[in-house]
Amino acid sequence: MKSERDDEMYSIELMVEEHDHILELLTVIRKACCGILEGQEVDDGDFRKMIAFARNYADKHHHGKEEQILFQEMTKRLGQIGVNLIQHGMLVEHDLGRLHLSNLETALNQYRDDPKTIYKLNILAEAAGYANLLQRHIEKENQIVYTYAEKNLTQDILQSVDERVQEFEKNAQQAKTQETYLQMLRELKEKYC
Ligand SMILES: [Fe+2]
Ligand SMILES: [Fe+2]
Repeated sequence: MKSERDDEMYSIELMVEEHDHILELLTVIRKACCGILEGQEVDDGDFRKMIAFARNYADKHHHGKEEQILFQEMTKRLGQIGVNLIQHGMLVEHDLGRLHLSNLETALNQYRDDPKTIYKLNILAEAAGYANLLQRHIEKENQIVYTYAEKNLTQDILQSVDERVQEFEKNAQQAKTQETYLQMLRELKEKYC
């Protein structure tokens, strides 16, 4: 898939591929939640791994490229539509996702210290809320936001986005971000999917 890319599409193709990995995490999250509803115990360690993937891969690594590179160009160069689409749309959703993750972490801490049903409910609500939010968010980006960027940003800007994304990827590879978190995802998938 990636090897077939043509140069101008590199960033978008890469980010759509990252969406696929994030969607796999959402499946893991939903399966873990369903397991609990069907009577399994809350696996604290696995939920911490899901949070780690969501924060470090989905947010820092993937949203990092959107926020620092592609979306920055879109808000700067695509007028009011760009501002509405990005600042009032995508960025608000990134923040909501972060809120779900921090609420999920709080609920896990509470449940670990005092395993009451209400905390278990909060774990399920925040985890499922995150999964639903991110699913819709990714669909919007794949179908509307990325397409709009490709159609409306100039070739020069798309080229510069590609170069910066390549640089971002290189740094992340040195920090072993992709390797570490995709391995973590594989292990979670083996267990839950
Ligand atoms: Fe996003
Ligand atoms: Fe995205």
